[in-house]
Amino acid sequence: THSKMVKICCIGAGYVGGPTMAVIALKCPDIQVAVVDISVPRITAWNSDTLPIYEPGLDDVVKQCRGKNLFFSTEVEKHVCEADIVFVSVNTPTKTRGLGAGKAADLTYWESAARMIADVSKSDKIVVEKSTVPVKTAEAIEKILTHNSKGINFQILSNPEFLAEGTAVQDLFHPDRVLIGGRETPGGEKAIATLKSVYAHWVPDHNIITTNLWSAELSKLAANAFLAQRISSVNAMSALCEATGANVNQVAYAVGKDTRIGPKFLNASVGFGGSCFQKDILNLVYICECNGLPEVAEYWKQVIKINDYQKSRFVNRVVASMFNTVSNKKIAILGFAFKKDTGDTRETPAIDVCKGLLGDKACVSIYDPQVTEDQIQRDLTLNKFDWDHPIHLQPMSPTAVKQVTVVWDAYEATKDAHAVCILTEWDEFKNLDYKRIYDGMQKPAFIFDGRNVVDLEKVREIGFICYSIGKPLDAWLKDMPAVA
Ligand code: UDX
Ligand code: UDX
Ligand code: ADP
Repeated sequence: THSKMVKICCIGAGYVGGPTMAVIALKCPDIQVAVVDISVPRITAWNSDTLPIYEPGLDDVVKQCRGKNLFFSTEVEKHVCEADIVFVSVNTPTKTRGLGAGKAADLTYWESAARMIADVSKSDKIVVEKSTVPVKTAEAIEKILTHNSKGINFQILSNPEFLAEGTAVQDLFHPDRVLIGGRETPGGEKAIATLKSVYAHWVPDHNIITTNLWSAELSKLAANAFLAQRISSVNAMSALCEATGANVNQVAYAVGKDTRIGPKFLNASVGFGGSCFQKDILNLVYICECNGLPEVAEYWKQVIKINDYQKSRFVNRVVASMFNTVSNKKIAILGFAFKKDTGDTRETPAIDVCKGLLGDKACVSIYDPQVTEDQIQRDLTLNKFDWDHPIHLQPMSPTAVKQVTVVWDAYEATKDAHAVCILTEWDEFKNLDYKRIYDGMQKPAFIFDGRNVVDLEKVREIGFICYSIGKPLDAWLKDMPAVA
């Protein structure tokens, strides 16, 4: 049924475009896949032995296909021109200025990609939305394409990506569902069938859902909003657990046993991060406001407010426990990525926690197995706007440089420290030699576990004063209540 030879081009070689196209190439040897990007260093890295993103299993997939039916290139226009299907997977950050600043998606990259497609195309194309975009973006893109099309037929599809970083390859191999939205016209239905035939190489028919364009776009925002809401719900409970002596793990387990609720995605944490959750909810909020639904907007906003509350609550707990000051105290930060098994730091709670501690004049020493020093220094010294638009790069403030050190070893990070904050749930943090860490630290020695990874009983026996999200408090912590 998939006899027609198809050529695919994906614009944007990032966290979504790279892994998704690599898996399509692996599963569809009869399809030629080109991944293009305007960033020369990114493409160079995709063509090297050190891929630009860390993702378990990805090296293997890329090695099997690269140079055969998978190509990474900066020749954007050439590959777009040749393709039958063009995926657009460019970044869509939240707008930092102008109308809708702080909420609406910045579609600059999308728009320029769409104009380029219209300019260079000589044959009919299916254009697929892959990056998360606000509902009704497809309509705007359609307008750009058709108004510049010179008689070429463009079909727009929405095919949102549900992969999670750290498990991207497995998620792509065994997706819960593939969602394809398109126009309910003969041309739209034909385009849906063509894209479906690509996924049909490895995804069972009943897991491929087809809808109209708007449903597909909104489902992506809705799914991420529901997931984030579960975390804010369990995190809100974690505060109440600490206040009452309940244990959030026990509560989450008991709640998750209800099959209507389910056991997954109920881990209390220092807060959720990542490039999607906050951005997508802000988007949803903006769309609600624009459509005259302030009550609905307010409802979803709370998910983000609780997440911000959880991060500042954590910082307050650290400072309050350490005699209300961390000034000039060395604090070790274990984990900086927004979750384990990724080097990605976008919206990581570690940024807010570190900035909070630095604001109180702490010296932080950071260890993360996958995040580079350069990345951490940028995250902590630039504000978001500068990062999205590097032209405005400012020199790092000299105090910030001194206050932040980045090391490649957990024991070095914790040496002579007053406290350890665990901010990412890397597996290796479970098996550290905490006795050795304790012996190298100032006393009293504190652990603030933002991911519930340490064995509380064990570290308390060693002598640590230990705070763990949502767990019954030490006598010490009870005596030094954190005020939010
Ligand atoms: C998410 C969605 O899961 C994915 O389907 C979508 O396509 C993109 O956004 P991602 O952001 O990569 O994926 O990771 P995810 O596993 O969802 O984690 C997001 C954040 O929530 C992380 O900071 C994680 O640590 C946190 N989290 C997750 C919790 O705090 N508790 C949990 O129980 C689960
Ligand atoms: C509820 C809990 O389900 C049960 O576990 C607890 O012990 C008592 O409270 P109950 O109120 O009897 O049980 O019925 P339930 O099926 O939960 O429905 C509650 C309300 O939610 C109903 O009005 C129902 O119509 C509504 N509902 C339920 C929806 O509107 N949508 C749904 O998807 C599910
Ligand atoms: P995501 O997590 O959504 O994949 P990334 O930021 O990791 O986002 O990747 C988006 C990629 O899109 C970046 O590598 C960026 O250079 C690329 N990009 C943005 N605009 C264009 C464009 N007009 N043409 C080609 N590539 C683009």
